[in-house]
Amino acid sequence: MYNTRKITDDLYWVGASDRRLALFENVYPIPDGISYNSYLLMDEKTVLIDTVDNAIGERFFENVGHVLGGRKLDYIIVNHVEPDHSATLQHTLTLYPEAEVVCSAKAKLMLSQFFTCASNLCFHEMAEGDVLSTGRHELTFFGAPMVHWPEVMFTFDTTDGTLFSADAFGTFGALSGNIFADEVDFENKWMDSARRYYANIVGKYGPQVTKVLRTAADLAIRRICPLHGPVWRENIDLYIDKYTKWASYTPEEPSVLIIYGSIYGHTQNAADIVAAELAERGVRDIAEYDVSVTDASYIVAEAFRRSHIVIASATYNNEIFTKMEQALLELSEHALQNRTVAVIENGSWAPQAGKKIRAMLEGMKNITVLDETVTIKSALKDEQRAQLTAVADAVAASVSAMMKE
Ligand SMILES: Cc1cc2nc3c(=O)[nH]c(=O)nc-3n(C[C@H](O)[C@H](O)[C@H](O)COP(=O)(O)O)c2cc1C
Ligand SMILES: [Fe+2]
Ligand SMILES: [Fe+2]
Repeated sequence: MYNTRKITDDLYWVGASDRRLALFENVYPIPDGISYNSYLLMDEKTVLIDTVDNAIGERFFENVGHVLGGRKLDYIIVNHVEPDHSATLQHTLTLYPEAEVVCSAKAKLMLSQFFTCASNLCFHEMAEGDVLSTGRHELTFFGAPMVHWPEVMFTFDTTDGTLFSADAFGTFGALSGNIFADEVDFENKWMDSARRYYANIVGKYGPQVTKVLRTAADLAIRRICPLHGPVWRENIDLYIDKYTKWASYTPEEPSVLIIYGSIYGHTQNAADIVAAELAERGVRDIAEYDVSVTDASYIVAEAFRRSHIVIASATYNNEIFTKMEQALLELSEHALQNRTVAVIENGSWAPQAGKKIRAMLEGMKNITVLDETVTIKSALKDEQRAQLTAVADAVAASVSAMMKE
């Protein structure tokens, strides 16, 4: 049976959530599920804004049918072609064959790659700033290339100040009745998921996100309707401020992430000691992860949040410990920059991890590697305590210098 929510007098949420999917994009763990949002505007013309993933197709079709209440569907706006949204487009068009598809030129091309029916469709190709009038509402279109794919556009309803932002401002996490960010404790219960979603899904495209944020700054936005997660209608600046930081690779706060790759536990021992020494020096809210245990998507998100990273790794077949190498590759591929890093290595016969980690960091933008370092040969020796203390001293001093800025 249908399960919709009203956003304004003539705008409805017609999406649904999936709590079964283990891996979003077959990569990212989503223990709290995910929502696929779609919106239906009931103006003189009826307008569906994006469709949904196949997983929730049945519910979605019921929702659309219920809100339309027998009216025909005039337009389907495709802001983003990725199949977590467009998978149900073909079937939607068989239910509403008169609907005309509104999308960017690139989206039209991509739809023809995904769907055989695309050649028979009536398309309205929208360029930057084009306007579609649907009666009371005027919808303006803006390109948002690479947020998250090249064909993405935003739709702005100038009449009501509603921004349909595609994947931008989305988050992992199923919606549990409350579809508005002001109906949930977003800062405490959702922000970590939102950051992990941002960093992993669009983190690489900071300059493109920054560009679209500049366009958005000129719009009188009263609400944001993303394709995943809650709708924003209050305190929008809080979220825009986070996006501005994430997009410019600016740490949210001076704080430390410690990641270690350890087989027998001696490298972990060093990481734990540095953590405790940092705490003794007043560093608060330290985050420490074993790269073999914690999925890289969480580490990428923590790295986007924090200003300093301590990397401790065993040597493995003359390389960085594999799981650490993968985690660092993820940081590099998501274009992490502007961080201060300390490196600790371990090896029983020819420690190489430190040198190779530094080489990877050199390939990233504006990463400051501290001189203080520790090379462990198997287990820590008493005299190495001073070296670990020196690492903690240098990191803590750098954190507190940043706090004074
Ligand atoms: C499969 C394998 C490959 C390794 N390759 C190297 C190596 O190339 N060079 C080296 O110095 N140590 C190598 N080691 C040894 C570990 O780096 C070393 O024992 C280290 O102290 C382990 O730290 P941990 O106690 O944190 O696991 C290797 C260990 C394993 C299991
Ligand atoms: Fe996407
Ligand atoms: Fe998406």
